[in-house]
Amino acid sequence: MLSTSSVSAKAKIPSLRAIVRSRSKAFVRSLPLFPSLSTVLKYRLRLGLLAAASPIRRASRIIGAMTIDLSAISNVATEPGELPDKMTAWVIREEREGEPIDAFQLEEVDTPEPAAFEVVVRVMSAGVNFNNVWAALGKPVSVFRSGDHPEFGHHIGGSDASGIVWKVGPGVTRWKPGDEVVVHCNQASYEDVEVHGLDPMAAPSQKIWGYETTWGSFAQFTKVQAQQLLPKPAALSWEEAASYGLTYFTAYRMLLDRAKLQSGHRVLIWGAAGGLGVFATQLVKAAGGQSVGVVSSEGKGELIKQLGATDYIDRREFAGMMRTGNETPEEEKERFAVSRAFAKRVKEILGDAPDIVFEHVGMATFPTSVYTVKPFGKVIICGATSGFTLDFDVRYLWMRQKEIIGSHFANAWECTKANQLIDDGLIKPVLWKTMGFEDVAQAHQLMHENKHAGKIAVLVGAEEENLGRSGETPAEPPAIRAEVGA
Ligand SMILES: NC(=O)c1ccc[n+]([C@@H]2O[C@H](COP(=O)([O-])OP(=O)(O)OC[C@H]3O[C@@H](n4cnc5c(N)ncnc54)[C@H](OP(=O)(O)O)[C@@H]3O)[C@@H](O)[C@H]2O)c1
Repeated sequence: MLSTSSVSAKAKIPSLRAIVRSRSKAFVRSLPLFPSLSTVLKYRLRLGLLAAASPIRRASRIIGAMTIDLSAISNVATEPGELPDKMTAWVIREEREGEPIDAFQLEEVDTPEPAAFEVVVRVMSAGVNFNNVWAALGKPVSVFRSGDHPEFGHHIGGSDASGIVWKVGPGVTRWKPGDEVVVHCNQASYEDVEVHGLDPMAAPSQKIWGYETTWGSFAQFTKVQAQQLLPKPAALSWEEAASYGLTYFTAYRMLLDRAKLQSGHRVLIWGAAGGLGVFATQLVKAAGGQSVGVVSSEGKGELIKQLGATDYIDRREFAGMMRTGNETPEEEKERFAVSRAFAKRVKEILGDAPDIVFEHVGMATFPTSVYTVKPFGKVIICGATSGFTLDFDVRYLWMRQKEIIGSHFANAWECTKANQLIDDGLIKPVLWKTMGFEDVAQAHQLMHENKHAGKIAVLVGAEEENLGRSGETPAEPPAIRAEVGA
């Protein structure tokens, strides 16, 4: 049975780890922003040393009559192949949807058993994504109507993980207990015909694990479909391996499969230093294309140049091009003039108009994207941070035979190919911060309040940062540490 009693994560005494984390942040802030990749990598190494000197101190939490010993999160009493009866998880329940700091609470729950073609993975590290801010808030819709939520009545979030296969269900032959893995977040029913010839993303049952389903990665164990598993890139630590899946695989499908990125293509990337953008920038470079990234600070611009962008545009110079949706005809004329100036700058940097525009900002930028892309070019879109009611002058679309293409996450084949590029060292995860398991609610609250400055991973089974690497030491660090807040 599930325990429903819980305790708020607010009542925390600052730990040694928190003190060291604030020292790390002060240290990063004291440095000039992104003067060079080698400096970025130096921070990483120095932060790595700080982290190595600061083992996680995990306190106990009292849950009803029980005490949850957070120092035991990284200890599992059973060997691979056998599951403990209970596990600790961060749980959201429908009655406490609201601010992440209150919605996420620690509970002891029954450990799930793997059904046919399912695998239970011991989570070593979990990646934090915006989707579980929405799950906490219960907005725009509550997650409790979707997937397996009605069956279990709880939401254990977390759509990125690295870990160790602990138990496999009937029918699983490709993976065995002890295998080290990364988890991609797409699930679909094996019985849906779309899975067997069209694309799992087209299946009526398609769901994002750890958002539209429960048993995500903010727990000691997670239950996934066997097709979600990918080999963990050997050079990466657990937290690095948990940090990239959702955003990187999304960017890979958008560019490589949906927009058919080719060598020589020119690409305009909005939010180029953001979660999707850092990977879009690296993918264009790896494919032999050129990109110009749009950012909102010089520091972010320098980072994306180090990641392979031809150059960057600081969007603050073109603030007037952003669409609010309430423009009068006169204001729209002025807005359009700034869009034209922006398109001219893009052309100057790339040598011609972009073949592809990488979109996820939505309302504010979409008219500029449609205008700026080359005739016969493609605007590829997967999100709408600034608003999802898009309006633009359609004459620029039909007269110049441009295409608008929607995209959503990725299928297992795309994830596998993308993951191989990380294993080969061609694409690097970009991670801002590693936090402890005790910080899951705080990490989501930081994101909700827009106080984060890049990708966050939390340690679950891993006792400290920089564990989990194997194989030969790569010539250069396989991941980048960067603070990209404005
Ligand atoms: N469908 C999918 O499968 C999928 C997967 C992942 C993400 N998404 C969606 O894609 C969007 C971006 O995700 P992300 O992880 O890259 O987020 P992120 O890390 O927050 O980065 C987005 C970047 O966009 C830029 N931006 C934000 N508001 C803007 C505005 N009004 N005008 C211009 N630029 C703006 C910001 O960069 P600057 O301030 O530097 O310009 C920001 O850093 C989100 O809406 C997310 O929900 C969808």
